[in-house]
Amino acid sequence: MNRDLLAKFVSKEPLSEAQLPALFAQIGLTGSEWDYLALYEQIRAYCEAFVSRFDALSIPELGFHGFRCEELYRFLFDDRQFGLNFNKKTGAGVLYGPAHTQARRDFVNQLPDPIRLACLRRKLLLTEVLDVCPDGVHIDLDQMDIVDIGMGHGIYALIGQDQSWVLKSGQSEHQAFFMALLDVLGWPSCLYYDLVTPKGQLWQLSAYSPPPHLHTERLKGPQMCRQLAYHAALGDLFGRGDRHFDNYVCRDQDLFPVDVSILFWPNNNEWVSRYTSGGLSELAILMTAYLGDMNALSTCWEMFFDHYESVFELLREKQSEIKALLGKYYRDPEQKMDFILSQINHQKETLMLQKEMYRRSLISYKERVFMKPFLWSLLDRDPSLGTPLRWMYYFANQTEWTAFFLLDYHHRRFVLDEIKALALAKGVLTDGDWDRLQYDMDVMSTQLS
Ligand SMILES: Nc1ncnc2c1ncn2[C@@H]1O[C@H](COP(=O)(O)OP(=O)(O)O)[C@@H](O)[C@H]1O
Ligand SMILES: [Mg+2]
Repeated sequence: MNRDLLAKFVSKEPLSEAQLPALFAQIGLTGSEWDYLALYEQIRAYCEAFVSRFDALSIPELGFHGFRCEELYRFLFDDRQFGLNFNKKTGAGVLYGPAHTQARRDFVNQLPDPIRLACLRRKLLLTEVLDVCPDGVHIDLDQMDIVDIGMGHGIYALIGQDQSWVLKSGQSEHQAFFMALLDVLGWPSCLYYDLVTPKGQLWQLSAYSPPPHLHTERLKGPQMCRQLAYHAALGDLFGRGDRHFDNYVCRDQDLFPVDVSILFWPNNNEWVSRYTSGGLSELAILMTAYLGDMNALSTCWEMFFDHYESVFELLREKQSEIKALLGKYYRDPEQKMDFILSQINHQKETLMLQKEMYRRSLISYKERVFMKPFLWSLLDRDPSLGTPLRWMYYFANQTEWTAFFLLDYHHRRFVLDEIKALALAKGVLTDGDWDRLQYDMDVMSTQLS
């Protein structure tokens, strides 16, 4: 890779007629059919437009920054930069929304096809990961479309005629085990491989399931309720965290997780409760459809826990196979088996505890869902009312089920109080509406048990 050329491009120095093709040759785009000067200008304008688009979504006060043109040029012309990633502080509860992920993906996916494919092919080849794919995995990049499907960072779907795969960098401690566990239970799963390149870099390869993934209509069928309940129970009993809906994929009517990063987490219930209050657990997602109808809500709750309870029995039945699997994937299988047994052997107590946790969290979710539209209407009418946190939730809440995630964990209850006060002052919310919400929350509290 010619660093001088890239440096010139980045610093906006003019490139000579001979240098322009050399620059594009770096991403594998060669041939006399291209008007390189026009491409060069197109790329510059494309990057500048994206910088403006993302600036309107960034929240720098919270550590969620936009992109600089230089970063975009580097992503395009430096093969070693695998993905285009958010410039966001991690672990500080800074949330993103669909507008952010869509913009990031669009930057990659809406590049002119020859540039996108040439650029991504070279990045993928440089990883050497294709050299270590197992038998049966056929990846011929020249015959495949390559699309960025990641959320906050670049993850690529390699879409072919016969086979399509998803490639993600980094290690997954638990995904392979969890996929094998799903097979043991007879539940839907997908092909998954952990790969190590000759240079020792770790990659995850999974079979690609194309969209549409989960949406409201699909939630209503009994099959979806059963699968959500199964995964909630399995997640709770195995201490699986980070179970929000972007980490599930639907293949026809089959639901399975694609991003199992946390398992056997001590006190995982605290997190499940936070996710549920924010609309990001299996039960919260299911209940969203029924929050306005108390009878339907109770019926759904009962159906959900019937399925949930059946998982205890299934795990007891499959105990020896699970033990063997743990032995295959972990160095401390006994400890992990004890983690599971300590819960399934006390079914009644565990179930009571879980129901209580879900009941409390769902009531809090109900309040947050109620408040969502007020935040939107306030900021839409008067953007000057936006504070960094209000904008953050404005965007993050646009995911269908999400409502003020991590409000308590990061001591942000005041955000809801402020929205309520503003909405009352502006007359978009009345005291009567608020009282009705409190009444509904009380009804929920007695009906869900
Ligand atoms: N095998 C797959 N089939 C279809 N979509 C997938 C697959 N794997 C990942 N995805 C999509 O890519 C997104 C990001 O993948 P994920 O593994 O969750 O990465 P991250 O660690 O960034 O959360 C997921 O939310 C999902 O929409
Ligand atoms: Mg994920």
